Amino acid sequence: MSGPLEPSPLDPAPLDPSPLDPAPLDPAALEQARDQALAAFAAAASLDELAAARTAHSGDRSTVAQARKAIGGLPGPEKADAGKRVNVVLAAVNGAYDARRVVLEDERDARVLVEEAVDVTVLPPRAVGGRHPLTTISERVADVFVAMGWELAEGPEVEHEWFNFDALNFGGDHPAREMQDTLFVEPAGSGLVLRTHTSPVQVRSMLDRELPVYVVCPGRVYRADALDATHSPVFAQVEGLCVDEGITMAHLRGTLDHLATAMFGDGTRTRIRPNYFPFTEPSAEMDLQCFQCRGASAEPGGEPCRVCSSEGWIEWGGCGMVNPAVLQAAGIDPERYSGFAFGMGLDRTLMFRHGITDIRDFYEGDQRFTLALGQEA
Ligand code: FA5
Repeated sequence: MSGPLEPSPLDPAPLDPSPLDPAPLDPAALEQARDQALAAFAAAASLDELAAARTAHSGDRSTVAQARKAIGGLPGPEKADAGKRVNVVLAAVNGAYDARRVVLEDERDARVLVEEAVDVTVLPPRAVGGRHPLTTISERVADVFVAMGWELAEGPEVEHEWFNFDALNFGGDHPAREMQDTLFVEPAGSGLVLRTHTSPVQVRSMLDRELPVYVVCPGRVYRADALDATHSPVFAQVEGLCVDEGITMAHLRGTLDHLATAMFGDGTRTRIRPNYFPFTEPSAEMDLQCFQCRGASAEPGGEPCRVCSSEGWIEWGGCGMVNPAVLQAAGIDPERYSGFAFGMGLDRTLMFRHGITDIRDFYEGDQRFTLALGQEA
């Protein structure tokens, strides 16, 4: 047998038996509640504030809501009148709320459009930094040669001793191979060095390319040199190599004079003087007239010049006719072909071009220096 049904938690709550307070139905109280609600909605400056005002003035505990509840407790004839009054107030409160909400939503949408607008005409931020002047000068030099029909060549900075020395006719006991000049790559006996000049690219080019060969190769080189105003253990050179039939020293001189004019302007004075390199024969050093004193310091009675040590000339690079032994090492017949080669310091080229007296400026990473010079180097 089943007993009487137990109350379920889902059943509606029993009606509140306490009599409802008719005070909220007082017309004056209702009007005051309406006016307060309208004022609060008008004062709300955001949708959040408006929502809070709505809870306060038309939520369950508000006078208007209390008035609606109180209608149920009125005797029949009064119900209709009170219901009308409450509905009029409710309509006014709800209408004012909706109107204010529309205004605040429009304001929000307009603000979002402005704040989140994307100006598709704005240019991307300017790249910070710039090209290093040694990069720019390398390209300028290369351009001079490419304009004459030469090709660009490259070689590794970690180079095999054979390319850096042996194939260039350096004897096994040549002083350049010693620890105080050359930076060797560990482990000892690896046969690898940080290339001490760009001349190994000569050998690589002769082995890789068809004759005739006309190549220019700017690149970074390394030596165990102490850092001072004119020397750095890391610096840049540009190598040039031409191998063809009938090439003479006059071609070498004319080519380097053309480069000097392209780099330093018309009227630049150069000179070549005898020197020795194992891979060229004859060999020479090419000097530029000092950019500071224009040679005057070497004249009798001239003011001393710190830049050229009062010699009037500054060494720019080495050059010469390719040694027949080097041609042979690359499988080229020296009876038929001859060639010239040169290797100029690019740091020094920049120093001459801009009157810079300290090579360290290139390597200290002061962006004001590198950016200013990098644009026009
Ligand atoms: C050579 O390096 C030869 N390979 C050049 C060459 C190429 C000769 C082809 C014949 C044929 P040298 O050691 O003199 O030569 O260096 C050439 C130039 O590099 C110098 O004249 C100078 O301008 C620059 N240079 C040399 N050592 C430094 C250094 N420590 N810092 C900055 N520039 C340097």
